Amino acid sequence: MRKDMLTTVNGLEFNYVHHGVGPTLVLLHAFPLNYRMWEPQITGLNDMCHVLALDMRGFGASEATDGDFTIENLADDLHALMQHLGHERFVLGGSSMGGYVAMAYAERYPEDLMGLALIATRATADTPEKREERLKTAASVSAFTPATLAKTMAPTMFAPEYSKERPNGLLSAVRAWISGTPPLTIAGAQRAMANRPDRTQVLAGFQEPVLVIAGEQDQIMPPDAADQMVEVLPYATLVRVPNAGHLPNMEQPEIVNQALRQFMKQFTPKPAAHTPSRQT
Ligand code: MLT
Repeated sequence: MRKDMLTTVNGLEFNYVHHGVGPTLVLLHAFPLNYRMWEPQITGLNDMCHVLALDMRGFGASEATDGDFTIENLADDLHALMQHLGHERFVLGGSSMGGYVAMAYAERYPEDLMGLALIATRATADTPEKREERLKTAASVSAFTPATLAKTMAPTMFAPEYSKERPNGLLSAVRAWISGTPPLTIAGAQRAMANRPDRTQVLAGFQEPVLVIAGEQDQIMPPDAADQMVEVLPYATLVRVPNAGHLPNMEQPEIVNQALRQFMKQFTPKPAAHTPSRQT
């Protein structure tokens, strides 16, 4: 039975869910969303892997913070949670900002990881212009409401032809998640992303398999970001998802789940070979 769990590590209460059997796949959400973006993976992969998805600090139902945190702090939170839960090695997946955290994790705790799944993300740091824009947004946190951000940002997260409301309610779900994110968390995450370093060399040195997934119509992440990561990664598989924007796991869950299934299969322990007992 799956239910939300609350656990305190690093002095903060974290909300997470875990479901399924098999090798563990941990999923980190995009900005400024929460673990619910992974619903299609939590319910669609549990027959072959143990999916664990959490709300990072200040997001979703995890404890709110003063907004003073870094991408590295988010990686340390996950490390503390996985230690607390007694998990050994796992595959770490991250979407966009979740991908930035996954790469920071790979730099700090490579021994924990059997592989990475990097979705709609990039290894490079912000351009000076982007950095400035983020810091400006963070500084004007009292002047905007998450609802305003939700209105402008949510449609850009989907492939253009899907950015209008669809019967499955994805757009309104994303809008509601953004609206529910505390302004201090939004400002803190913008500063954290602005200050993150280039992690291309971390990927170049990463010795485990990596699945890279990109939405073909992503309006937020430049299309060459996935190619740049694949170019430096020693062991990479690239999957481009048609008719998907910045949230391919929600827009085209069957394609993304199929790619994740294929990727996770290699970590499934092989059944022990049957040794016939000797007749005496
Ligand atoms: C995200 O989806 O996590 C953000 O758009 C990433 C970013 O702003 O770089």
